[in-house]
Amino acid sequence: MSKIIIKKSDPLTGRICCSGSKNAALPILAATILTKGRSRLYNIPRLSDIENMLELLSGLGGKCVREGNILTVDFSECRGYTAPYEPVSKFRGSFLLAGPLLSRMGRARISMPGGCPIGNRPIDLHLKGFSALGAEIENGHGYVDLSCKRLKGAKIYLDFPSVGATENLIMAAVLADGETVIENAAAEPEITDLADFLNQQGALISGMGSDTVNIIGVKDLIPCSHSVISDRIEAGTFMSAFAITGGCGEITNVNPLHVKPVTAKLSEMGAKIQEHENSINVDARAHLSSANIKTLPFPGFPTDMQAQFSALLCETEGTSIIVETVFENRFLHVGELNRMGANIRIDGRSSVIEGNKKLSGSKVTAFDLRGGASLVLAGLCACGETEISGVEHINRGYENLCGKLSSIGANIFLE
Ligand code: UD1
Repeated sequence: MSKIIIKKSDPLTGRICCSGSKNAALPILAATILTKGRSRLYNIPRLSDIENMLELLSGLGGKCVREGNILTVDFSECRGYTAPYEPVSKFRGSFLLAGPLLSRMGRARISMPGGCPIGNRPIDLHLKGFSALGAEIENGHGYVDLSCKRLKGAKIYLDFPSVGATENLIMAAVLADGETVIENAAAEPEITDLADFLNQQGALISGMGSDTVNIIGVKDLIPCSHSVISDRIEAGTFMSAFAITGGCGEITNVNPLHVKPVTAKLSEMGAKIQEHENSINVDARAHLSSANIKTLPFPGFPTDMQAQFSALLCETEGTSIIVETVFENRFLHVGELNRMGANIRIDGRSSVIEGNKKLSGSKVTAFDLRGGASLVLAGLCACGETEISGVEHINRGYENLCGKLSSIGANIFLE
């Protein structure tokens, strides 16, 4: 099993480039099932979650060919409707196959995604929406089985603006009869990217990026080429890396509008940030102050940046409070940060971080993707050497993290 080794690093400087977004690529890859033809996708990162999705698509008859970060997926034929346990159990995004399979095959049999270290993560909102669109639902033997003769547009209200449910229901509704309205929909940029991809193929989706998404069903979709948006969470992680080392540099291939909540928080803490069309400059050479954070659906502060800011706030002046409102158990990194000398207390869904701690390098374990990123950040400023195991979690969502960070001066390598 590989490990990441990090030694205390000087302030990071230079230019670092973001990859394509994992969370945008996954639903778009699932959506290729809807199109009888060859989709060409650009800016697809090399990550284990993406490789697992490609394995599932190939098993369903998709012909997937990768050339660097370009992928072509040909679903002229779809040969099945089952997503089996092994690949599904490796990543939650696999449940995004349900909507497209139900639409194309009239049936989707997906292994229950089950629990996850950061929370229970039920699928009730997805199922409620599928049922409103006319699907029959059965559960048994660890599988959820969805079937329908023909999906019919419906009005669906989501109790919570779930990203995955909004994506799954958009994909189920694009080829359904009539109009679907999703109320209290999620507004994340990844949803807009999915809708843009589908609209380029002839779908009629409007309202994406707001809390009400309208979809008018069309007869079929015409294959297209699409470039997936860049990874706003990777960008936020790099911004935090400059900040935690007191560094200064440029992050390229990022849409500043997608990282607004992170930019706003870092500016409040005293970092100087300049936004350009497709890049961001971060100057964190001044001492940063503490901050209070509440994670919320977009455009609120992303839950996917909570762990990285937990590490950053250990280094700032004063006490900070983080309230995690999206996932009930997303503080797995806290014990590991405390092992490195942090002083973080958890009280229900909040954590209280006493800042100005001198972190010290230790052996620690990544239990989940973003928690793993927080340990990398802590390792950059901790005295001595940090050894992180559980690297497979980090590889799910960061393309070449060690290589990219070392290119801006981090003392980090993969062993
Ligand atoms: C997506 C992202 C993940 C991010 C999360 C929130 C992908 C592949 N993953 O996950 O990185 O952290 O959005 O921004 O895009 N919920 C229900 N019932 C449901 C569905 C969700 O109660 O049927 C709850 C969840 O348990 C959670 C909350 O809604 O508490 C948000 O989950 P959701 O937005 O669905 O996250 P994902 O789509 O799984």
